[in-house]
Amino acid sequence: MKQVVKAPPALGGEVSPPGDKSISHRAVILNGIARGDARVSNFAQSADCLATVACMRALGVEIESFKGGLVVKGVGDRGLKEAVDVLCAENSATTMRLLAGLLAAQPFLSIITGDQSLRSRPMDRVVQPLRLMGAQIWGRCSDSRAPLVIRGGHLHGIRYKLPVASAQLKSALLLAALFAEGDTVIKEPIASRDHTERMLKAMGAEIEAKGDTIVISPSRLKAIDIIVPGDISSAAFWLVAGVIHNRADIRLNNIGVNPTRSGIIDVLNSMGAQLSVENERLVSAEPVADLRVQSSQLSGLEITGELIPRVIDEIPLIALAASVARGKTVIRDAKELRGKETDRISATAKELLKMGADVEELPDGMVINGKERLRGAACESHGDHRLAMMLGVAALVAEGETEIDNAEAVNISYPRFWQDLKRLSAAKL
Ligand code: S3P
Repeated sequence: MKQVVKAPPALGGEVSPPGDKSISHRAVILNGIARGDARVSNFAQSADCLATVACMRALGVEIESFKGGLVVKGVGDRGLKEAVDVLCAENSATTMRLLAGLLAAQPFLSIITGDQSLRSRPMDRVVQPLRLMGAQIWGRCSDSRAPLVIRGGHLHGIRYKLPVASAQLKSALLLAALFAEGDTVIKEPIASRDHTERMLKAMGAEIEAKGDTIVISPSRLKAIDIIVPGDISSAAFWLVAGVIHNRADIRLNNIGVNPTRSGIIDVLNSMGAQLSVENERLVSAEPVADLRVQSSQLSGLEITGELIPRVIDEIPLIALAASVARGKTVIRDAKELRGKETDRISATAKELLKMGADVEELPDGMVINGKERLRGAACESHGDHRLAMMLGVAALVAEGETEIDNAEAVNISYPRFWQDLKRLSAAKL
């Protein structure tokens, strides 16, 4: 599907992005192996999270829908059953990596695959430490690519320093550790999103995080109801749209602002954004707030090191904001972006260049010199949801018309994106 977008005279109103994708995956997986039933409200009904639901159902967990969410009927720590067919994680690396950790500890055989993009993404990062825990797990390309074959069984705890700051890898090991003999100690090079740790704790697991180290003991979980906050990675499209459009005022309510995820707020504030965070509160063990964003004059900045995992999914959007900011922006230490749904460094640079931006690729980031204006162009999502949406936002401030090919990629995380864009574009401020 091709989407054509023109810059509207104003951009405004209230918008509720879908429930947080990372938290939705975890709410289904962890409640699936807990004792009891759980209501997961505001579950992200997008393709990635529905892939997790399909896999958990195939493993014997009953999951029912209600208006606005799901009921997950936990089977307990010994209740999962061997699936009768290959499991499919579709486009979702979170599904594949987290389930690899869980399945490594189950007394049966599992095979898990994904779409073409997911089959090209690195899986050795989970295979290697799971083997150190005693898992029998294999994959294509010398055990580095899916499909993965897992002969689950007895595991033992390990001490492990993560070679990359990855919440998916950390969570895979935490899931395996629930079933392992002895404690598991995980050290992170840089803090990554901590949704799994928060949820595990709320479900009664013995888990302690101190500084860069997490210690987890084998634990049984009790089911808990979860209200999933709005996804900050989806809200981020409107935050950037609001600051770069010259006549905008957008409100976003109930957005997750977990500090391990909210780097986009800090980056935009450092660039000079008019962005306020109000009514901060704790919902289902996660910080939530209401956000308001207005047209702003942005300046370039440098983004490196510890900030990177806190903005990892928002970097294409930051590159867009930098393209229309004053001065130069340098993004470094973000090599992980080359292993996402697509190579997000090269795809972002390629598409923004088509729109007249001044972007230069670095091996681990980008250098961007801000310009007065972007121009409409014929662009391509590369089948990547975040690229499709970033280009949709770029089109809101470009001269002329922008065409985005393969625009249906938004279904991966934000199926209503194009409707919301249309609605906000009809604002009269
Ligand atoms: C996610 C972790 C991040 C992020 C992805 C979701 C998660 O990936 O990019 O969109 O839910 O744990 P990595 O763990 O590979 O950094």
